[in-house]
Amino acid sequence: MSQINIQTLLGMKQDGEKIAMLTCYDAGFTPLLEQAGVDVLLVGDSLGMVIQGHGTTLPVTVEQIVYHCACVSRARQRSFVIADLPFLSYYDEASALRSAAQLMQQGGAQMVKLEGGEGQLARVANLAAHGVPVCGHLGLQPQLVHQLGGYRTQGKDVDSAERMQREARLLESAGAQMLVLECVPAALAARISQALSIPVIGIGAGPDCDGQVLVLYDVLGITSAPPPFAKDFMQATGTIPAALKAYVKAVRQGQFPATAKART
Ligand code: KIV
Repeated sequence: MSQINIQTLLGMKQDGEKIAMLTCYDAGFTPLLEQAGVDVLLVGDSLGMVIQGHGTTLPVTVEQIVYHCACVSRARQRSFVIADLPFLSYYDEASALRSAAQLMQQGGAQMVKLEGGEGQLARVANLAAHGVPVCGHLGLQPQLVHQLGGYRTQGKDVDSAERMQREARLLESAGAQMLVLECVPAALAARISQALSIPVIGIGAGPDCDGQVLVLYDVLGITSAPPPFAKDFMQATGTIPAALKAYVKAVRQGQFPATAKART
């Protein structure tokens, strides 16, 4: 069984093969996701909402991500594991490096994800220089929910779209090896995906990214108020393995998302 690594994902982008990514938080789901063909498991800070019952991702700590990431890593056989750096765990270069070290050394993460653009470039460069693979996250940044005043689509006007394109290029130049775009107009996400050499994974960002990610519990229809762009794959399939396989198939074939059902 061949292991998926960053080179595999880069090759998939170059070959036009869509990358299927899902959040995953424990050892029970990990083999189910792998058997369905999910390439990348994200131990996202969304666990604060779907597992812990908080209203935002802000209360999640590094120790909690480490705990869940270690659960996933113990069960992982072939997929690539990314862990989120939680809110305020990367407020300067030293804290970013310290938190990333915990996620990789104790949690077994193979890459860390952080939210933000221009303000994060020095941290991204410093992490990369220390051998930490980094995934950026632009568009809607849930850790900024209180600054933004809600969960809204980003990059809708010309200025913010241009800024996001510039920040995406800067993140890549600083050493980011992957990028997540959340709640971004489909045309803008398509332009950014084309402009970058690194894989760009969309969530609520239209069909033309290099891959898609969703929160596992939304895919399984467990979440009480899922975002408008999510899809419950359980409804049409009835079992967890079938729902996960349907998600992977829909992503690979470019059938999900069909059209961008964006936030306002
Ligand atoms: O925490 C998370 O699950 C995420 C995804 C929504 C991309 O960051």
